[in-house]
Amino acid sequence: MGVDGSDRRQGAGQLLAGREAEIDAAARALRAGGLVLLPTETVYGLGADAANPAAVTAIFEAKGRPRFNPLIAHVADLETAARIADFDDRAYALAKAFWPGPLTIVAPIKDTAAVCDLARAGLDTVAIRVPGHPVSHAVLEAFGGAVVAPSANRSGRPSPTTYADAVSETGDKAAAALDGGPCAVGLESTVVSVLEGQVRLLRPGAVTRVQLQQIVGPLAEAEDDAKRSPGRLALHYAPDAPVRINARSAQPGEAFLAFGGGASGEGVFNLSPGGDLAEAAANLFAYLRAADRTKPSAIAVAPIPEDGLGEAINDRLRRAAGYIG
Ligand code: TXA
Ligand code: MG
Repeated sequence: MGVDGSDRRQGAGQLLAGREAEIDAAARALRAGGLVLLPTETVYGLGADAANPAAVTAIFEAKGRPRFNPLIAHVADLETAARIADFDDRAYALAKAFWPGPLTIVAPIKDTAAVCDLARAGLDTVAIRVPGHPVSHAVLEAFGGAVVAPSANRSGRPSPTTYADAVSETGDKAAAALDGGPCAVGLESTVVSVLEGQVRLLRPGAVTRVQLQQIVGPLAEAEDDAKRSPGRLALHYAPDAPVRINARSAQPGEAFLAFGGGASGEGVFNLSPGGDLAEAAANLFAYLRAADRTKPSAIAVAPIPEDGLGEAINDRLRRAAGYIG
């Protein structure tokens, strides 16, 4: 899927055909305060009505997520987003360039009832995005309002990028679950703040730093990690086995996540034999989980180049390894 979402409708017919009743049931479950497993182009989310504090509480409980970590509000289109958040010219430019798609924009909250205090962890800003996946888009259109949806993993674990992984993480907590196939991007959205005329990169993701700069010019200096993204835990995206990054090879007993040609054999999972970063991103969380299932002493991961999508991949790997909080 292109980050500009231009091919959002590609395959939409197939994914949506004959599913009107399922989509309506999901929208009804949201209205009733239930949780819904939703596919997006980045990762599967666990959604709830953003305006309903009881439903939002249920999300924090289902994930075991700290309450000070605010959620992302998902809406069907830019017009709805601009009613909820205060978008300046730069926020509009970014939204027009990358929505629907894997970019989340943090901006001042305007409609405090549309995304309740609890969902924003009491902040006077809101994180908002228009996802590009046809199934989540159809649910958002049917529902009408904002749906807060964190990644559907239990807190601290790798985000689910397949329906089966999403169901095994939090499916038992959901009133409805929608299968949208494997997530095309495989990494969470890029999070930027657009506040007081400054654009800051809070979480690297599928939309790269260079792509952002092409729209808004140089980014403002990022604040330190604790301040810039409230909920980022010491160990995040972590499988059960310890993760060892920048490894040239595996030790006996370790699984190996390779990148590029050459490596193969038992316990070896090649993120992209051809050395393609988009393919590696799409495979990252599913392969961390697959490696984990072999019950290794550790998961060794080959060095990944830092350019383009590599910045987001390395961010997730450093957190999975417990290097940054
Ligand atoms: O791709 C994604 O973004 C997925 C799919 C489901 O949309 N969602 C996701 O949500 O990754 P979650 O909850 O796992 O991550 C949300 C991130 C957190 O790092 C949180 O701290 C940050 O967004 N965030 C939310 N509201 C914020 C705000 N007002 N200011 C700064 N950071 C915020
Ligand atoms: Mg998450």
